[in-house]
Amino acid sequence: LLVNASKELGRPIPKTLFGIFFEEINHAGAGGLWAELVSNRGFEAGGPNVPSNIDPWSIIGDDFSLIVSTDRSSCFERNKVALRMEVLCGSEGTAICPAGGVGVYNPGFWGMNILKGKTYKVVLYVRSSGAINVSVSLMGSDGLQTLSTANIIASASEVSNWTKMEVLLKANATNPNSRLQLTTTRKGVIWFDQVSAMPLDTYKGHGFRSELVEMLADLKPRFFRFPGGCFVEGEWLRNAFRWKATVGPWEERPGHFGDVWMYWTDDGLGYYEFLQLAEDLGTLPIWVFNNGVSHNDQVDTSSVIPFVQEALDGIEFARGDPNSTWGSIRAAMGHPEPFDLRYVAIGNEDCGKKNYRGNYLKFYSAINKTYPDIKMISNCDGSSRALDHPAHFYDFHIYTSANNLFSLAHQFDNTSRDGPKAFVSEYAVTGKDAGKGSLLAALAEAAFLIGIEKNSDVVEMASYAPLFVNANDRRWNPDAIVFDSSQQYGTPSYWVQRFFTESSGATVLHTTLKSNTSTSLIASAITWEDSDFDKTYLKIKVVNFGSNQVNLKISVDGMEHNLIQLSGSTKTVLTSSNLMDENSFQEPTKVKPAKTLLENAGKDMDVILPPHSFTSFDLLTE
Ligand code: AHR
Repeated sequence: LLVNASKELGRPIPKTLFGIFFEEINHAGAGGLWAELVSNRGFEAGGPNVPSNIDPWSIIGDDFSLIVSTDRSSCFERNKVALRMEVLCGSEGTAICPAGGVGVYNPGFWGMNILKGKTYKVVLYVRSSGAINVSVSLMGSDGLQTLSTANIIASASEVSNWTKMEVLLKANATNPNSRLQLTTTRKGVIWFDQVSAMPLDTYKGHGFRSELVEMLADLKPRFFRFPGGCFVEGEWLRNAFRWKATVGPWEERPGHFGDVWMYWTDDGLGYYEFLQLAEDLGTLPIWVFNNGVSHNDQVDTSSVIPFVQEALDGIEFARGDPNSTWGSIRAAMGHPEPFDLRYVAIGNEDCGKKNYRGNYLKFYSAINKTYPDIKMISNCDGSSRALDHPAHFYDFHIYTSANNLFSLAHQFDNTSRDGPKAFVSEYAVTGKDAGKGSLLAALAEAAFLIGIEKNSDVVEMASYAPLFVNANDRRWNPDAIVFDSSQQYGTPSYWVQRFFTESSGATVLHTTLKSNTSTSLIASAITWEDSDFDKTYLKIKVVNFGSNQVNLKISVDGMEHNLIQLSGSTKTVLTSSNLMDENSFQEPTKVKPAKTLLENAGKDMDVILPPHSFTSFDLLTE
């Protein structure tokens, strides 16, 4: 492998090259990244126009002690359903309530992870026909272990109208499979609505589950595409993600049923929270909005103006003056400063749809007129032929077999260097090569990313998909990060992305691979500066996709700096004994990069590439 490190042959890589794509799929947000512990906190999961579905709330008590139903008496206009609990036991002449009382419990998203010593804030809205004494408790899944409890006691006049109550519960034990209970031993009728339980410590205090965000932060993402994917489109337009229903006080959000991935979200993780997370991660948000097209229905271009206005309003919400109509709502939510929204995607995977082009042009011209600096992303692939409409970027999605993705490392070699740049916003190996996240899949992805790095004059951004899966609701395999209520691990695909964290904004060098095994090898080289320590690194990455070990000679030419063989030069290898090896909760690091000192670091090095491996040689330069 010849690496020419001379500046003349090098090319700057876009600062935005590698980022992340978050979609509400697999309970990635609700029951995942968003730290809310209660599932279906407003009892709305059936939607506003169908009989309520209180699932997964369950009843504690029997027909003689309790009648639980729902009605539309909530004080919140956009989510009218409330839980009605008629307690039959507990007064003279009636049955005695069971010890512990009767009521309801919520198991969260396959169990709440309650940790000893941590405090949880429970907020709920309550109304009653009389005085109340309600126990609010964090319990084990069997309802026998009490991790924390507090009582809400109020006179009849205090709760004759809807009243907000808050309690702090400090856990005396750890249980990853806990539940929240609301119980009483007092006869009467009580209504509950908008019951929330959140840990007090969340990422930067903004409501995100820290361990999961830290895994994202470790990827050093340069952009954050959200909130979908198909989630943005919906099977039907009525179930698409519409940002206006996801902002403002959380209690007032209607929530919605995502009919592509088939689950309800309370939309606590809404448009504002996505923008906040992008800011917290130091990335640029890329907002994907619905362009009047879903999987099964579409708005005619002649009627699409309300959707266009919704997008304009969304941009104003993100970055408008705090006194503007929508900017003021953002300011009231706690962020008077604008968010740094520079990119929007007009729809998702809608290019072939009848009304896409017509609708797109309406969005493009309206946004361009009002916000000329906003960069817009078209759904139509411009990698092999020119787009027939204006765009700053075109979206490119690829889900395929490992062999195919390996060869697609050359996908952009012959793409026209003129015209809009590519945004590879979704890529992954899927199907039997991938399982739930195999080494094989990850190696092909590594090769594909090397190809992108080398073609970063035409590819401006790239992100893997999907990012997250809650192991209890696998709607899509594989995914980068697997979690449940209390644990998480990266798949090999996640670890491959970690090899590219220094690439955005670095310089890609000219490399020539002269090897008789070059059909199974692909390599790239970059130089990047570690400004914190004032050091410059040469990073050479090689995928060996073949089943034989390769002895490779690496020669570096044209270096301004001398290579040095200090402890700072390292080698990191991702491989495993079996090509289909995966990580799991039992073996979360079975396939994980291993870093060692590179003892023969120099301008000429003989290195060994294990079969089926991805290696990064990181040479510290003087
Ligand atoms: O990443 C999963 C899905 O794949 C996305 O929702 C969609 O854009 C693509 O089809």
